[in-house]
Amino acid sequence: MARVSKERLKSPRARLFVALDLPDGMREGIVAWGRRELRDPALRVVAPESLHVTLAFLGYLPEKEIGRLAQIVEAIDSPAPAIGLGDPIAKPTLRRARIIALPLTSPGTIALQAELEQKLVAADLFKPEKRPFWPHVTVARVKSGGRGSKRPMEVSKPPGKLPKPLLEPEFKGIRARLYRSELNPMGARYTPLAQVELS
Ligand code: 2AM
Repeated sequence: MARVSKERLKSPRARLFVALDLPDGMREGIVAWGRRELRDPALRVVAPESLHVTLAFLGYLPEKEIGRLAQIVEAIDSPAPAIGLGDPIAKPTLRRARIIALPLTSPGTIALQAELEQKLVAADLFKPEKRPFWPHVTVARVKSGGRGSKRPMEVSKPPGKLPKPLLEPEFKGIRARLYRSELNPMGARYTPLAQVELS
């Protein structure tokens, strides 16, 4: 009998997350600011089409669960959340930064995330993180030090503040989307699988 490797017996898996998509005006503003302020050679800037607010990172799940996940996302019935953007923050600290992110002040996004999390947990599709939800937009990731080093490169030029128009509280998240993430050396590629427009 032919030997079937353990790998082939496992059901195929997909790396999945649910995110809140940003309105074009906000994305364009972030991209224009990033061209000026995210110039440190240690940074890999997030592509404009990939800017988002992660609501739930699901990790690797069997592909056959995508249908159930899509139903949950499509049934989201929250209003479009108002988003207040904040000035860039390096996480976990500037000296050991792994990402540069814009924090959000957005009770609506927190409520939306809580509603989604509760449904995902009830469906046994998500294990909530121990730390509280921190709504943010990652705008750059810090490259690793090279030669197999896992340590991030040092960011010597921290990004400057956001321009006034981006701090105005008139922007709203536009849709919730289930994404598949495929990792490659140049960064991740995100493919939308299901969505709901928020109004
Ligand atoms: P981040 O923006 O803070 O890095 C897809 O990978 C998205 O899921 C990213 O936006 C990432 O958030 C988020 N995410 C949350 N937890 C993650 C984890 N443990 N590994 C990878 N991505 C994670």
